[in-house]
Amino acid sequence: MNSTSDIEQAEFLQTLASKSTGGTLRGDYAQADAHYVVQQDMATYTPAQHALWRRLYQRQAKLLPGRACDVFIENLVALDAADGIPEFARTSKALFTATGWVLVAVPGLVPDHIFFEHLAQKRFPVTVWLREEHEFDYIVEPDVFHDFFGHVPLLFNPVFAAHLQAYGKGALKAMPLGGLDYLARLYWYTIEFGLIRSAQGLRIYGAGILSSAGEIEYSLHSPVPNRLRLDVERVMGTSFKIDAYQESYFVIDDFEQLFHDTEPDFTPLYARLKLRQPMPANTLLAGEMTLPPNAE
Ligand code: PHE
Ligand code: FE
Repeated sequence: MNSTSDIEQAEFLQTLASKSTGGTLRGDYAQADAHYVVQQDMATYTPAQHALWRRLYQRQAKLLPGRACDVFIENLVALDAADGIPEFARTSKALFTATGWVLVAVPGLVPDHIFFEHLAQKRFPVTVWLREEHEFDYIVEPDVFHDFFGHVPLLFNPVFAAHLQAYGKGALKAMPLGGLDYLARLYWYTIEFGLIRSAQGLRIYGAGILSSAGEIEYSLHSPVPNRLRLDVERVMGTSFKIDAYQESYFVIDDFEQLFHDTEPDFTPLYARLKLRQPMPANTLLAGEMTLPPNAE
């Protein structure tokens, strides 16, 4: 974290604080500024929404011991967000101290270049609205529960946070090179659905799994999916499904590996990948070893 970016971060938050409009309505893009940022207006969350958050949180938190990686659990607990939809500004303060990141509220999915620009500036976009009761088990688009519960804990880890910032910068660089599809697959199989080794067996760090009721168990224990060591080019050439449990998971040793394996210039990789068709998600190549599921 250098002082220039501290100043930029402070200025950005200052502009946010001066905005008068708020809104926690689903998909209320009319309130958003040029960065697609809105105010998180805590007053607009109802008691029923806080109660729904508590139920989502409790169900999910119970599944984490022995399944989520330690870094995730430790930082989630420190967030103290079990009692209701959390206030982003409070978390941003602690997060800024830890890694120089802040959270910004957004009305939903934002255009690619906006999302990457935020990441490159150490701002993590968090959707302001919460799913409805009938979406308790499954929601097709990210809401505040997925974004906050799933993604925010790891932003407190300096190596993971550095990787995510590098990803944002790398994606801006990839856009004119036609590399976004490949980076989207990398994001999917790491940030969203990644597994990590520990001395006690496989653990989860991917937000898409950690905010899902069923996939926590499936990803670690089902004999069905492939579990392969992360190979960046292999992942970038592998398609994925968004409406079913994953058919392949990719496993890292630690966040340093994620950082180092994604450090090289990807320009030649994109050029190579363009010459091939993407592989189906369930592909197992000759010579690839799938890791066994966790025993207990
Ligand atoms: N190293 C990549 C490049 O130069 C950028 C990148 C970093 C992409 C981290 C993803 C994650 O293109
Ligand atoms: Fe996500």
